[in-house]
Amino acid sequence: MSVRSNGHGRRNGHRPPGQADAPVRVGVIGCGYWGPQLIRNFYELPAARLTGVAETRPERLEHVRHRYRGTQVFSDHRALLATDVDAIVIATPIQTHYALARDAILAGKHVLVEKPLTANVAEATELISMAQAAGVTLMTGHTFLYNPAVQALRNLVDTGELGRVYYVDAARLSLGLFQSQVNVLWDLAPHDISILSYVLDETPVAVSARGSACVQPTVHDVAYLEVLYQGGISAHVHVSWLDPAKVRRITVVGDRKMAVYNDVALVEKIRVYDKGVKPPATDTFGEFQMSYRNGEITIPFIPWQEPLKLECEHFLDCVRTGRRPLTDGRQGLEVVAVLEAADRSLKDGGSRVPVEIPQMPAAPVRTAVTADSEALSMVEPDHLLVDALVTLVEPGPQAIEAAP
Ligand SMILES: NC(=O)c1ccc[n+]([C@@H]2O[C@H](COP(=O)([O-])OP(=O)(O)OC[C@H]3O[C@@H](n4cnc5c(N)ncnc54)[C@H](O)[C@@H]3O)[C@@H](O)[C@H]2O)c1
Repeated sequence: MSVRSNGHGRRNGHRPPGQADAPVRVGVIGCGYWGPQLIRNFYELPAARLTGVAETRPERLEHVRHRYRGTQVFSDHRALLATDVDAIVIATPIQTHYALARDAILAGKHVLVEKPLTANVAEATELISMAQAAGVTLMTGHTFLYNPAVQALRNLVDTGELGRVYYVDAARLSLGLFQSQVNVLWDLAPHDISILSYVLDETPVAVSARGSACVQPTVHDVAYLEVLYQGGISAHVHVSWLDPAKVRRITVVGDRKMAVYNDVALVEKIRVYDKGVKPPATDTFGEFQMSYRNGEITIPFIPWQEPLKLECEHFLDCVRTGRRPLTDGRQGLEVVAVLEAADRSLKDGGSRVPVEIPQMPAAPVRTAVTADSEALSMVEPDHLLVDALVTLVEPGPQAIEAAP
């Protein structure tokens, strides 16, 4: 599929010299439940200028018109794409992601697509290829990877503090928000799947899923997912729209220590338990007694910043510099591949289904032009965390290949 110029004399996504320091012109498509959070962030960030919002519901456009004066509103996304906007953020229902992102890429715009990237693997691979051909940034909105608590959890695994990871358990439960077009896996599990692959730094190879459709006859509202990783670790994910308690918890059990990440806690989101168990040296009957260790509980200090703000800043930084996003198209594709396999397993009574992730070449990291390098040196302190994240996954071409 050919990609036409965006009309600004650039097809490779660089901001032309002279414009490198100028705010990125951002347009948002979709202003339902989540869109307003993105609109607020891009409106407030100095590195962006929110120039337009497209939404099919007139009352939501009215809301934008009153709240964000000076922002153009459109009832058709194609009118937004016809403006001089540099980057498009898509916060619409999942089934619409592919067509809207395709239109944006074809118009030469950088794109941030809310999670999950698309409704199936074929659509995701096509978007990745198109974005590469157009030389524009394609990023997936896996917000939790910008959450400082998830960074801290990854650090605990990465530094070996927990020891060898035995298994992971995740729960994301509450009453609602019920959806009619997608099941609870597609709605909630993208968060856990993206977090787990990132924290474990492993690629999922197989999944099995079981669940129930309690309230709507054909839409699963409760699901239990088992994800097997290349390194042999298994993760269990329980997602539900039908639970009396709001739970957002991930437990990582290692052979040295155990960590619990409780996202519902306002402070002290992670607790590290110096607990463990050692089998006896002999298993002779009568001498068989496990030795349990019950040590200290430590609570790491996690400086808090709004994850969505960090995600938006990271997107702007990638647009300005050509860096590969931490949550790029391939990372979005991996999550979609797990969901697609999980859906097959759900229909097949919980059978183990391989996760098939098409091999996509890594998008070449667009080297910054001189003016962009100047822009880089101007980044504000808030950028430091995200810059550090990017450094983690982009120390060199080898690491880029290996990144999840
Ligand atoms: N990252 C996160 O933490 C997070 C949280 C919630 C939702 N999401 C994601 O955000 C996306 C939107 O979810 P939501 O809960 O806001 O959905 P929603 O249904 O509340 O809002 C979607 C909005 O998009 C509008 N829309 C639909 N098609 C459109 C089109 N072609 N052009 C313009 N507007 C259109 C609808 O009128 C609606 O107002 C989903 O992909 C969801 O998974 C992400």
